[in-house]
Amino acid sequence: MPAEIVVTEEDGIRIVRMNRPDKKNALTQPMYEAMTRALREAEASEAIRCVVLTGGPGAFCAGSDISDFQKRAEGGLKPITVDFLHALVRNPKPLLAAVDGLAIGIGTTMLLHCDYVVATSAATFATPFTRLGLIPEAASSLLGPMRMGHARAFALLVMGRSMSAEEAKAAGLINAVVDADALEKAVLQAAREIAALPAGAVALARKLMRGDLDELSRRVDTEAMHFKERLQSEEARAAFAAFFARKK
Ligand code: COA
Repeated sequence: MPAEIVVTEEDGIRIVRMNRPDKKNALTQPMYEAMTRALREAEASEAIRCVVLTGGPGAFCAGSDISDFQKRAEGGLKPITVDFLHALVRNPKPLLAAVDGLAIGIGTTMLLHCDYVVATSAATFATPFTRLGLIPEAASSLLGPMRMGHARAFALLVMGRSMSAEEAKAAGLINAVVDADALEKAVLQAAREIAALPAGAVALARKLMRGDLDELSRRVDTEAMHFKERLQSEEARAAFAAFFARKK
């Protein structure tokens, strides 16, 4: 079976590809674990200058696997996801993303930790947390309003309204919208541009721009605490059951 997280490297650029196309790249606990490892290895490697997150045609990532949510509600799994969120916050290397198609839940909120995002015109961004009885995660309750203003962040993160690629660009969530066949080239071009710059200066400039990382980490933990409670709520349990019953 091909790996569900495929990690490759070229010219100092680490590419982390979510690869579970039959489930639209919904992230399972082992996938989170592999992505965390890929980020932490990049952190420790001088040779890796930046990291690109990507998915496949039509699906960047459909969010966390809802059956994992169900297991967590029953107290079955460890919070590996939170570990991934901390790896995102603490990752010192410039982070880029290439998005085609669906970017749902964490598929959108992980982009708030990215420094440069390219998407195709077919990309859609949505965080249906409250519809699932849940709350925003990945420090998105802090980064969302900072990045796009309260009004747009509320429509996205609380009302669950989706954004088109053009809307996401206007909101400052992504940098550029390109045709599907130009996606990889566009993100690699940006990654090479970053990799060619003096690494020390890039790292320091990025650190200064990202503000108080302790505050971000605390927000990840506070959201995670509430998220865990919400997973056990009647609202969430009913929404998860409805998701899996929708095709019956
Ligand atoms: N968790 C678990 N399974 C998921 C999933 C998720 N987050 N997203 C998609 N899948 C699965 C579907 O259950 C389906 O599996 P099946 O073929 O065994 O039935 C498969 O992926 C394909 O999805 P499907 O719903 O048939 O495709 P679609 O194009 O009609 O819709 C989505 C795609 C992503 C819009 C829809 O699957 C969806 O709404 N997923 C949930 C997204 C979500 O709420 N994520 C959590 C955010 S916090």
